Amino acid sequence: MTCDTHDVLIIGSGGAGLSLALKLADHSLTVAVLSKFALTAGSTYYAQGGISAVFDAEDSIESHIEDTLNAGAGLCDPEIVRLAVTYGKNSINWLREQGVVFTEETVTTGGTKLHLTREGGHSHRRVVHAADATGKAVSLSLIDRAKEHSNITLFEHHNVVELITVEAGSSTKKAVGAYVLDSTKQQVKTLSARVVVLATGGASKVYLYSTNPQSATGDGIALAWRAGCRVSNMEFMQFHPTCLYHPNAGSFLITEAVRGEGGKLVLPDGSPFMQHFDPRGELAPRDIVARAIDHEIKKRGIDCVYLDISHKSADFIKEHFPNIYEQCLKFDIDITKQPIPVVPAAHYTCGGVMTDSYARTDIANLYAVGEVASTGLHGANRMASNSLLECLVFADRASEDILKRLADIPAPPAIRDWDESKVSNSDEEVVVSHNWDELRRFMWDYVGIVRTDKRLDRAMHRVDLLKQEIAEYYGNFRVTSDLLELRNLVIVAELIIRCAKLRKESRGLHYTLDYPDTDDSKPPQNSILTPE
Ligand code: FAD
Ligand code: SIN
Repeated sequence: MTCDTHDVLIIGSGGAGLSLALKLADHSLTVAVLSKFALTAGSTYYAQGGISAVFDAEDSIESHIEDTLNAGAGLCDPEIVRLAVTYGKNSINWLREQGVVFTEETVTTGGTKLHLTREGGHSHRRVVHAADATGKAVSLSLIDRAKEHSNITLFEHHNVVELITVEAGSSTKKAVGAYVLDSTKQQVKTLSARVVVLATGGASKVYLYSTNPQSATGDGIALAWRAGCRVSNMEFMQFHPTCLYHPNAGSFLITEAVRGEGGKLVLPDGSPFMQHFDPRGELAPRDIVARAIDHEIKKRGIDCVYLDISHKSADFIKEHFPNIYEQCLKFDIDITKQPIPVVPAAHYTCGGVMTDSYARTDIANLYAVGEVASTGLHGANRMASNSLLECLVFADRASEDILKRLADIPAPPAIRDWDESKVSNSDEEVVVSHNWDELRRFMWDYVGIVRTDKRLDRAMHRVDLLKQEIAEYYGNFRVTSDLLELRNLVIVAELIIRCAKLRKESRGLHYTLDYPDTDDSKPPQNSILTPE
């Protein structure tokens, strides 16, 4: 089979991947962009609240930095935070140039300005948004532009099986491409490139309940780990406090902006409770709100708590939250009149593949951008709406570095085809679906919002068994998309548990009953794992 060659191979068509693709293609580089499902498959399309950036005259870069550092509980890299926050305005302006239309408001002096909403941890209104469907607006504009671009080739339903690396000196490796399963033809292709970029998003599907779409199986983290990259801070999995609780709703998020605009969290009897947990109440950072809800649910044996915005006028609610209003109505919940039943669900992967300030990983010519990366921006807890910002900032940084270096990177070498001579078609798909379910359930039960040493040990024991079974299956049968995801998920689960076991304290999103306090006796440490 022939090998398809491009200057840059970008794995992922979310905010990170497409922003980078456009920035490179505009400089005449040939770029291949892969998505394992449709182009809209990633989390970007589902983002609701918005993108944080300093636009308000009362706000300042320093204040955004301070809020981000506070949310990150001592583990943010201050230089990275400054870099990202300073770039906020540029990133919004760049998106507007790509055709993204954000919500505006009229000003008393005439004309309009961007409407800014508020979310947890932010001390000012600084979240730029497109009503309550910001991700859809961003995603569709970037996809439209990418489709028009003659330097970009889009590959939908192409799932990366493995990165391809070659030796590059005595102790280093370089990335030269990837083996990719074309799911429509069930065929493994070879794509080679001078530069490879992971923009594969997060790993929240490792949990039974998640706000994320199906694609979020941590593939990029597992691919990078197998290729030899360090991974860090995987214990900091963020649980969003408010996912709609309804048997038929799947995983539908109720944006934090509902609380930002005055929504109250209440118990089934209508009494508020957040004031008992944090003076910032509903607008405390996510880790605190999610733990408070988890605590109330477990203490009272209730199924959910409620988020009530019905004290606002119906017009206000429909104007600010049209998408949520419509979705809830489908389940007979009229949010202009009733509180919304909500529960926490896994939402965001703060850790990931370790990168420097140009999104470079430990492997030469391999970059990681977006949720897949651990840049140091989020520390132990990401502040709301800093994630899309990170995608845009590091797409820009990576493009700057790639454009500077590309002339010195030789064309990739010839690569041998994927070898399927020793495998057959699976006759027991049930192994894959069973293991998928088992993994996500024990991760939810044992490695969720509240952890203990014993629960982590139990989970690790199960991971060890699953790893063996999956390796055996992978060695014998032809790859399928489900099998690839399961093989990656079990690695991600292992990395989360290993990082959690390293941390003998509670900090940010990692809370353990065995060490309930933050250890302030020494400087905070990142949890860093190095492949053998
Ligand atoms: P994604 O957008 O997740 O894209 C990943 C891409 O990688 C997809 O194209 C996928 O198909 C592809 N891919 C993955 N694995 C493979 C593989 N093996 N082979 C080929 N392709 C692969 N953040 C904010 O800042 N503000 C918000 O308001 C906000 N709201 C959110 C609401 C929801 C419901 C969710 C789930 C997240 C929200 N977030 C928000 C988080 C934010 O949306 C994500 O962190 C961000 O969009 C990630 O972008 P990304 O480009 O890194 O990855
Ligand atoms: C939300 O809209 O609540 C999600 C925002 C985010 O994850 O940053």
